Amino acid sequence: MDERLGLAGLAAGQASDVGPSHLPQKVSPGWVDVLATVPLFAGLSRRHLTKIAGLASSKRYAAGSTLVKSGVPGESVFVILDGRAIVRAGARRIPLGAGDFFGEMSLLDGEPRSATVAAQTEVLVMMIPRRKFLKLLEKEPRIAIAVMSTLSRRVRALQAAASL
Ligand code: CMP
Repeated sequence: MDERLGLAGLAAGQASDVGPSHLPQKVSPGWVDVLATVPLFAGLSRRHLTKIAGLASSKRYAAGSTLVKSGVPGESVFVILDGRAIVRAGARRIPLGAGDFFGEMSLLDGEPRSATVAAQTEVLVMMIPRRKFLKLLEKEPRIAIAVMSTLSRRVRALQAAASL
């Protein structure tokens, strides 16, 4: 989904916000243009997007590194701003790109991470901590609906794969 969204280009223009280190950085208001193109946040006003940017931090991961590990408790939800990652769930491999999110399952049910997500290329992510994300879902039904529709699509994909 990355090319259609044009997120990679926008993210590249914002790269200086992230800084040279790979430690989490604050997401500056300059990221609002990027967030406006993320389907999870579709239809939200710039004011809301600025608020969301304020809740989040950004982090760069090197290609090949692990973003979340199966079986480990989850503390954040991730939105990919640039780069490609892969979900390893059992034998399944699900590619993710800019605009996709992951890590919502642990936050919603409190269980450990259901899968490992690894960086295929260098990846830039935005991370929203659990409590802030849950508050956001309570306040913004559109985001909650976007999360539910993605979960529903993922269940359908699993059903389709199971019936092959
Ligand atoms: P979580 O369980 O918190 O951490 C691993 C994440 O991988 C999970 O949330 C989902 O975001 C993602 N994930 C797990 N299984 C699938 C799947 N079958 N399809 C797409 N994404 C998945």
